[in-house]
Amino acid sequence: GDRPAVEALQHRDVGELLPRPGPESDKYRRGVVGIVAGSARYPGAAVLAVSGAQRGGAGAVRYVGPAADAVVTRHPETLVSQGPPSKAGRVQAWAVGSGLGEDKDRLEDVLPADVPLLIDADGLRLADEAALRARSAPTVLTPHAGEAAALLGRERADVEAHRLASARELSDRTGATVLLKGSTTLVVGPGGVRVNPTGSGWLATAGTGDVLSGLIGSLLAGGLDALDAASAGAYVHGLAGRLSPRPAGASDVAEALTAAWRDLLRGGGP
Ligand code: APR
Ligand code: MG
Repeated sequence: GDRPAVEALQHRDVGELLPRPGPESDKYRRGVVGIVAGSARYPGAAVLAVSGAQRGGAGAVRYVGPAADAVVTRHPETLVSQGPPSKAGRVQAWAVGSGLGEDKDRLEDVLPADVPLLIDADGLRLADEAALRARSAPTVLTPHAGEAAALLGRERADVEAHRLASARELSDRTGATVLLKGSTTLVVGPGGVRVNPTGSGWLATAGTGDVLSGLIGSLLAGGLDALDAASAGAYVHGLAGRLSPRPAGASDVAEALTAAWRDLLRGGGP
């Protein structure tokens, strides 16, 4: 084909990818994203993942887990429940794993779901490789270099020295689209390879990865394919890092997602 080996999304490309609601839209057509994150030990990860999801364009955000009170206090529009995620009601994409702790049951309940699924953080550690390969719908994995190294059975330094090859290997082994985080975020999947140009050191603060997981989950629920959702999500997230107050915490980055969308929907340069 004529596609370049590695693509860098431009501002206008991302603006065209972002879902725009129209007269025919309703919350189900805009997509329902399910968030399975947080634990008694890490309730904030649930709040941050939901905050990314609420600013990712989905029509509704469902949260399943023990941090429901904290989630509803910050984001009262969230539909919350406990118990198995598969019994929570209609969901068009799942984002699972941020701050999940050791709750393998909640992860294993959503792994077979026949809708797009993003797995982050603790979920990456708990997921079984054969179960990933057996999935019937697209999967997105969002490791940082340490998490990718653990999945590949390598040293972190080895992954840092061979980032593209590491992401490719992880994608080939799992069938998933792999977003390898870092100062330059790579997205490698069956659909292509993309590099994100918008990252900045302002994102290097605890919890920004949790925001990214919810954001990409929301874009998946909105109907973007795995490569587009992951790479557009990384782009918007990086732009939010640049537009947020400084120094910013992860909550500030999540709030700045709306300013990033405003720029992108308008078109033109950043
Ligand atoms: N330049 C650009 N972007 C960066 C930089 C940098 N120097 N450093 C970090 N980032 C971006 C990454 O690309 C990613 O989008 O910030 C985000 C950080 O995400 P994570 O590494 O997942 O960090 P965080 O969300 O804080 O993780 C919280 O998850 O993996 C666990 O052990 C980790 O407990 C921690 C929790
Ligand atoms: Mg993380």
